[in-house]
Amino acid sequence: METISILVMNGPNLSRLGKREPEIYGTLGLDDINRELSASFPGVAFDFFQSEEEGELLEKLFHCEDQGGFSGVVLNAGALTHYSIALRDAISAVSIPVIEVHLSNIYAREEFRRKSVISEVCSGIISGFGADSYHLGVRGLIGMMERK
Ligand code: DQA
Repeated sequence: METISILVMNGPNLSRLGKREPEIYGTLGLDDINRELSASFPGVAFDFFQSEEEGELLEKLFHCEDQGGFSGVVLNAGALTHYSIALRDAISAVSIPVIEVHLSNIYAREEFRRKSVISEVCSGIISGFGADSYHLGVRGLIGMMERK
């Protein structure tokens, strides 16, 4: 089996995890989550990226596509999930599988969060397991690679 390289990409406001609405998003910071991912999956080469800017997320995705060697992306797009057609188009434009993850269950929250414009172009969706959503996303990608 080829080496598994995974980009874990987080969008706007996810840099504030741990401080931001901990009753919804938990008390772990993004660095803690990333550290735990590396510890849980020692065989995976991770690239971690977070940005508050939509365009930077698109550029990172295209960079990974052009560079090659990435098995997949675990993406928490934050609020962009609900309205960014640019992000949706970027996911469609790349051949790398993207798994959509959310800490909270977006379907059990406010009406405007119950719609994801990216789900249709993602290879899988995980929502509502707190920081474990990222682990489940990585696990899902590894399964996809193994079945290849
Ligand atoms: C989120 C859910 C989004 O609705 C919200 O805008 C976020 C975080 C989640 O992980 O639960 O920023 O993606």
